[in-house]
Amino acid sequence: PSVAKCHASLATNYTRETSEVVDLDWENLGFGLVDTDFMYVAKCGPDGNFSKGEVLPFGPIAVSPSAGVLNYGQGLFEGLKAYRKTDGSILLFRPEENASRMITGAGRMCMPAPTVEQFVDAVKQTVLANKRWVPPTGKGSLYIRPLLMGSGAVLGLAPAPEYTFIIFVSPVGNYFKEGLSPINLIVEDKFHRASPGGTGGVKTIGNYASVLKAQKIAKGKGYSDVLYLDVVHDKYLEEVSSCNIFVVKDNVISTPAIKGTILPGITRKSIIEVAQSKGFKVEERLVSVDELLNADEVFCTGTAVVVSPVGSITYLGKRVEYGNQGVGVVSQQLSKSLTGLQMGLVEDCMGWTVRL
Ligand code: COI
Repeated sequence: PSVAKCHASLATNYTRETSEVVDLDWENLGFGLVDTDFMYVAKCGPDGNFSKGEVLPFGPIAVSPSAGVLNYGQGLFEGLKAYRKTDGSILLFRPEENASRMITGAGRMCMPAPTVEQFVDAVKQTVLANKRWVPPTGKGSLYIRPLLMGSGAVLGLAPAPEYTFIIFVSPVGNYFKEGLSPINLIVEDKFHRASPGGTGGVKTIGNYASVLKAQKIAKGKGYSDVLYLDVVHDKYLEEVSSCNIFVVKDNVISTPAIKGTILPGITRKSIIEVAQSKGFKVEERLVSVDELLNADEVFCTGTAVVVSPVGSITYLGKRVEYGNQGVGVVSQQLSKSLTGLQMGLVEDCMGWTVRL
């Protein structure tokens, strides 16, 4: 513990004493891992309580080859972002929402979870320790990746006897290689992402491994990502591998309802609230794949992708393109409002940002 304390104070001093921002090629960030200085680690034994976490130098962790997460996929992750304001302060966006979602997911995966307070405090500590990696205003954000895993050893199928909560961070730019330009999606007609009663509604690691195959095939054909349909009817939109989906028709915004098979995105929820505050009608319901054919606009939302306009969707060999090169007026307006708030460019009348 004394070593951990030393690292924690090292983190504080380090950020104070070194230059404000690291020297990086901020113009060409993309969404790849950049190693930063520190990570947060807390452990939890069979009593279900997490230790007071430690801020440690970023680097490899040791786990048993028999760890629950490695053998049986007992793991969850989260994603949130920190932005640097022009005055140098740092804003987090709705971190307590990620904390609550991790608690819900942990329940589904038979894992203990840190409390909302511990989660948010850990995020703050990790971001402050890595403050110099938060991109300058307008150049991107610091992506924060909390992980919860069954780190204890098991052999037979059972919940692990020990859990590890880790947070690491990386400066990021745009998620898709298209940058802010519209993306091209293909509706998946062979693979499904989730089924009723499964784990599609929680952010468990296996949900993401299972979409790699379809994503790889789609990328090989030049598409940006895959849009999944429901497994029962093969007809209703679910989500894209890494984000939620919205369809706009006659200024009415529709998005698949949360019913256990899609991820309850925090950007999704925020866009719905921003749209409603601007007087848009928003419907959370079953959205049929046929509705893509005559939609005015389609866009995706997610922490990593933020708001990504969709330029075209291909379904069963037929390609539909959306007007104005895919950058629709509704999605543009919503994107501007949300990102302005996240970056601290406009007043946060929603009370969503947490200032560090
Ligand atoms: C996020 O948007 O934070 C996600 O978790 C998606 C991930 C595939 C990058």
